[in-house]
Amino acid sequence: MLFRFVVGFLLVFPFFAFSSTHKYSLSYNDDPSTTIVLGWSGDSAMVYYDTIDYGTNYSLYSQTNGISRTGGAHSITRHFSRLSNLESNTLYFFVLHDVQGDTSLRFSFKTLSDNPMDSVSFISGGDSRDGFKVLGVYTENCPSGSCIEQRRKGNRLVAKIRPDFISFNGDFVMNQVTSNTTTEWNNWLDDWQLTITPDGRMFPLLFSLGNHEDNSDAYEMFDVPMEEYYVININNGLLRFYCLNSELNPCTETNQLDWFTNDLQLHSGSSNDPLWKFAQYHVATYSMALGYGMESNQMECWVNLFEQYNISLAIESHGHVTKWSYPCVAKNDNSDFELSSSNSGVVYIGEGQWGAPHRQLDFLGLNQKPYIRDMDVFDGFFYITVNPSKATIRTVKFKDVDSVQAHTSNVLGKNLPIGTTIWEPTNGNQIIIENNASIINENTSSFCSVYPTISSDYIQIDFQNNSSHKTLELYNSLGIKCKQIRLSPTKKYTMDISGICSGVSYLYVKEQNGKTMPFRIVKTP
Ligand SMILES: [Fe+2]
Repeated sequence: MLFRFVVGFLLVFPFFAFSSTHKYSLSYNDDPSTTIVLGWSGDSAMVYYDTIDYGTNYSLYSQTNGISRTGGAHSITRHFSRLSNLESNTLYFFVLHDVQGDTSLRFSFKTLSDNPMDSVSFISGGDSRDGFKVLGVYTENCPSGSCIEQRRKGNRLVAKIRPDFISFNGDFVMNQVTSNTTTEWNNWLDDWQLTITPDGRMFPLLFSLGNHEDNSDAYEMFDVPMEEYYVININNGLLRFYCLNSELNPCTETNQLDWFTNDLQLHSGSSNDPLWKFAQYHVATYSMALGYGMESNQMECWVNLFEQYNISLAIESHGHVTKWSYPCVAKNDNSDFELSSSNSGVVYIGEGQWGAPHRQLDFLGLNQKPYIRDMDVFDGFFYITVNPSKATIRTVKFKDVDSVQAHTSNVLGKNLPIGTTIWEPTNGNQIIIENNASIINENTSSFCSVYPTISSDYIQIDFQNNSSHKTLELYNSLGIKCKQIRLSPTKKYTMDISGICSGVSYLYVKEQNGKTMPFRIVKTP
């Protein structure tokens, strides 16, 4: 009897069994080729990590890192250990050894590449909240009898697919006065453990805030940047991935708008442009769910920026339906989208079906929007592969998950595992976007040089002429400005970078005539 109890406990709670740390997560708040954030609940602990697998022999791991920050919300405490100075494209093994002397299971993660020529594959989705209930009975449409069970199917699929990362665009939990938000978040974090593979591999999260979250939930639960809007540089220039916050008014809350506009400007038309730009945010700009319609502020203040600065893909949620668009642009009066006749169109996909209650589609039959390629209603997420020349998007259904043959290797290809059910709509089962955004501006001739580009304190800028004023702007990898200097005409300038920006940073040297030269700087401790 006791044996059966112990075995049963281990099967149900495999990640709690040997440790007083639990509810593990990985996230990014800096360069994903050299940093990662490990989060957990439970006891204080030290992280022991290495590129060599020492199993649970914590003392053999050559590197350690303590708690960088303790956060939390909704009566849940979260510890975060920010690991930095990691090698790119490298598998790391780690354990947590807590204050009680217990050691966690051995986990692993892989840093992203620092080569923009390498491809990346990620899962993207949103809306994993439970349905509303009255006296224990759903008042929303959770077709299999449980929205939570559908979410868990998606999580188990993550472990089988082994993506490079996951982008999640909001509405984790219900968080209403009628629900127990602490229990919901704990359940969500427990369910997230299903994304961990049997050999301990974990996958990092990129996050956008939904309308069911509180304003600082992403920061408190996953240690993403405090601003709740940020950009992550994937594969060092392959993909600039904007995580926008649709809970801030896109037009009138200008902190986000100014930051977004500025970052797009800095990464357009110069020789270190990212090859791709994507955006994710929670509320769909024009929802295909019945009764939801258009967000006119987003149409007015974001969509023109998407089009102007070559954002190729916008990933949306909130509608609880599935849609793919053709490349499209805003109509002149911003009343709707229309098919793009040029190469400036944006593909919109969505809208959040990671288990959340199903809704009905709008614009059916003859009323279907001409720019909508296909739409349907089912539980699922997107699987997106990006290389320098094309992005491929497929939609994975949470169907027959148990019969999907899990990838077991860390050097797998960028393919979905055998047995995965993908959406097969009328107009083809994948979207391919050819890259037309990476046109390098050949007109930006060199007018200065910068050295050293790896430094802890000073960098020097040599100018070819001293005929005009120059402006120097230094940004960290999240696009936040660390320093700005306006220079009188000079041939040489030594810039003090001690105490500001850390890790990978970008220096933009601007001439009065608008010519800009970007430089990648690595700020060492
Ligand atoms: Fe929502």
